[in-house]
Amino acid sequence: MPGAVRLSALPPLSLYVHMPWCVRKCPYCDFNSHELRGELAESDYIDALIRDLELALPSVWGRMVHTVFIGGGTPSLFSPGSIDRLLSELRARLMLAPDAEITLEANPGTVEAQRFTGFRNAGVNRLSLGVQSLNERHLRALGRIHGRAQALDAIAAARGHFDNVNVDLMYALPGQTLEQALADLDEVLVHRPQHVSAYHLTIEPNTYFHRYPPQVPDDDDAAEMQERIEEMLDSNGYQHYETSAFAQPGHQCRHNRNYWTFGDYLGIGAGAHSKISFPDRIVRQMRYKQPREYLQKVASGEPCLTEHEVDIEALPFEFMMNALRLADGVERAMFAERTGLPITSVAAPLKRAVKLGLLVDSHQRLQPTLKGQRFLNDLLSLFIEDTR
Ligand SMILES: C[S@@+](CC[C@H](N)C(=O)[O-])C[C@H]1O[C@@H](n2cnc3c(N)ncnc32)[C@H](O)[C@@H]1O
Ligand code: SF4
Repeated sequence: MPGAVRLSALPPLSLYVHMPWCVRKCPYCDFNSHELRGELAESDYIDALIRDLELALPSVWGRMVHTVFIGGGTPSLFSPGSIDRLLSELRARLMLAPDAEITLEANPGTVEAQRFTGFRNAGVNRLSLGVQSLNERHLRALGRIHGRAQALDAIAAARGHFDNVNVDLMYALPGQTLEQALADLDEVLVHRPQHVSAYHLTIEPNTYFHRYPPQVPDDDDAAEMQERIEEMLDSNGYQHYETSAFAQPGHQCRHNRNYWTFGDYLGIGAGAHSKISFPDRIVRQMRYKQPREYLQKVASGEPCLTEHEVDIEALPFEFMMNALRLADGVERAMFAERTGLPITSVAAPLKRAVKLGLLVDSHQRLQPTLKGQRFLNDLLSLFIEDTR
């Protein structure tokens, strides 16, 4: 597939803002998060984010922003006043849709009800709470700074202050039984959060758990946990719309859906990633990861990122890698819209995927089957082979 990208329209645009500090680094975490030593450089960092945005504005000029996600790290370490300043400055420089979804990630142990009021008044309308577990022993094994009581208080306070709350849970934790994993979920569901993310704990390279692996449930036990978690969420009215995401009707995460439908996102802040489409190219950027270096570069007006153009040959795989995570898949026409390539360019792997029972191709939609969802890597590998 030689040649240049040709897009007839640009996809929807989201904004991601990265806050790179945490009270303590969790032993399983490979996100760009750094243990906070000394005072939080709160106002310097907000200044840097605004400057970073200003430098990036020409690349998204005139485009509406549909969702904002303030993620981390631990964004809730920042005061409501700082989040308010950040959102006001963003609004002054970007066309933010009137109904924009604005999410903030919060850690139990860094929030109290008063902060929630402040975040909500600043314009945050979706809160994502990193609960992980409600079992004291498992929270300790995960190195979390919060205990069970704090997690329960935070869920109740979040539900009291926001109409749209996500709870992050992890399962297949060190020493966890099926009953314990289900008990965590059962207790969370009492509070009826609008959204639940249930992640299988993965042991990532460059983490403490990778160097000193804990004893975790084996694959069969973890698969059973996953199945029972999915059943419990289903019977409580949550749609399983993406690998790890479950939502009450009308509450899917619009920001993440934009990633999965191969939309555009501008990421500002240390280590943030961007994907930005232009009529003739698609560009990926990554900001410097180290907060100190990022702050210095932005303050001195020097470039604080690396950038590369996405190879046209990589586009089919990149598109499918996102789109096929969605249980209801995507409209077929979206492939051409977002990649600029005709759907016929993937005719052979689509046909193979259908034959293997991994995909339904209805000529309207591309949708992974249940088998395709379970064996997503096998399904995706078909789109790599084709472009080799
Ligand atoms: C960006 S992280 C951080 C959110 C927040 N700082 C926290 O930890 O509460 C978002 C979520 O990813 C999940 N996560 C992080 N590392 C993981 C891992 N190694 N395996 C599975 N899930 C992970 C956790 O549930 C976490 O809440
Ligand atoms: S609090 Fe969240 S972002 Fe920070 S180290 Fe732990 S998992 Fe990573």
